[in-house]
Amino acid sequence: MPTKHRSSSSSHLAGISPLVVANWKMQFTTDQAVATATKLKTKLRTFGSLVKVGICPSFVGLTEVGQAITGSVLRLGSQDIFWDERGPYTGEVSPLDIQQAGVEYVIVGHSERRQILGETDTMVARKMISAVTHGMMPILCIGETGEERRTNQQDLVVTRQLQAAFRSLPPPPRHRRISIAYEPIWAVGTGEAASATQADAMRELIIQVLVDLYGPELVGSNFRILYGGSVTADNIGDYVNPEGFHGALVGTASLDPVSFVTLLQRVKKIFS
Ligand code: PGA
Repeated sequence: MPTKHRSSSSSHLAGISPLVVANWKMQFTTDQAVATATKLKTKLRTFGSLVKVGICPSFVGLTEVGQAITGSVLRLGSQDIFWDERGPYTGEVSPLDIQQAGVEYVIVGHSERRQILGETDTMVARKMISAVTHGMMPILCIGETGEERRTNQQDLVVTRQLQAAFRSLPPPPRHRRISIAYEPIWAVGTGEAASATQADAMRELIIQVLVDLYGPELVGSNFRILYGGSVTADNIGDYVNPEGFHGALVGTASLDPVSFVTLLQRVKKIFS
């Protein structure tokens, strides 16, 4: 368990713009993703730049969605990345292709990949290096299962996931931000979000682990901590505020442009 440098978490994260990222998973065909992105672009015409907004379509949709959001506040993200640029990796997508599509954010180690596709901490660590070395900003997903929470292992699990993901990663260049999304697995796609108290305790832990790894100064300017797991327009204020999480990773509530824009407007209001 980390113990050094304990201090107020909010002071480490002051002045960082909020980030909300839509994870569209495998919910849309490319046509549907382009249509949704186009609606978002229209609705966010006067939204401004206070809140950074990313959308993550499937790999196949990256180029077309990227073209559809040109000239808008929306930023392109991918849902995954691979560690090598080329080679005998049937079914994988090269980071060079993702880079060429104009991707800025990359989700790494989402719980669905860890649980359903068997992604390990070691694979996640290699993907983190790939995202950073290809100039993209990783959104590292970490979080415990329901069983791990019931047996009070969440701190151990999240600390292990974090240390593993960052072990071989060089310190990020200043202001090239890395996001950590705390996504308790029991809250992802279930409609059962973590309580503000549960989430906040994990946020404090995450900051402490990062400070132990990189020191308070680097952590203060280089990391965002996001919450994910059944986030809606109604509950986002429980997590995201200038003293709390610096944004959210949103699945279900990002699929409908009306509800996603309502959620974004709430975040903007909180930070205005
Ligand atoms: P959810 O998904 O908002 O539907 O819970 C979040 C995620 O998987 O990142």
